[in-house]
Amino acid sequence: MSEAPEVGLVWGVKASFLNYLAHTGDATTSVIGAAAPTTTGRFYFGPDAAQIVDPTAETMTLKFCGEVQFLAHHGVLRVEICDPWVTFSGSGSYLSIAIPNTQGTRIPLASLEFAPPSVTEGVAMWSALPTRLTAEGIAIFDGFYSEGESFDPVTIRALTG
Ligand code: HEM
Repeated sequence: MSEAPEVGLVWGVKASFLNYLAHTGDATTSVIGAAAPTTTGRFYFGPDAAQIVDPTAETMTLKFCGEVQFLAHHGVLRVEICDPWVTFSGSGSYLSIAIPNTQGTRIPLASLEFAPPSVTEGVAMWSALPTRLTAEGIAIFDGFYSEGESFDPVTIRALTG
């Protein structure tokens, strides 16, 4: 998959985590459903149905689908990034993920700073928004990272109608 301006969300999660996995010796990365690897080693998540955004809104939730599953240490390490959504709101913006095999439970994984999108030819783009681990996300990485740990920037593209 290229980095062409396709509607969806692209995130590398955290470069040092992917580098760590590569050195465990037995790590596997599975991309499932609407997720796909990008040519630059990041992950693409497809848009949820026919999502249309108002690029002038300051409060919204952008929904994306697909799952990336990391396994290592003979299954002891299992990290699943499933159906990432980005919520922008005045009281705090964050990327949330679904917890697989639950009845739709989601947790905020990474906080981010709101920035207005650029809009070109009907596509709103939030480019390389910095992300940081939330308190709720600490358990996903088994406590190896603290709250506020810097994660990779996320880029989002959505149709404006
Ligand atoms: C058999 C069990 C495990 C062993 C032997 C192990 C071993 C290690 C070692 C040696 C490091 C330091 C690597 C370095 O500094 O380059 C490390 C870092 C780390 N481990 Fe594990 N680990 C295990 C389980 C887990 C589990 C269950 C998770 C859950 C996600 C996890 C997530 C991490 C993370 C996030 C780091 C930091 C990576 C970074 O540098 O960004 N590990 N682990």
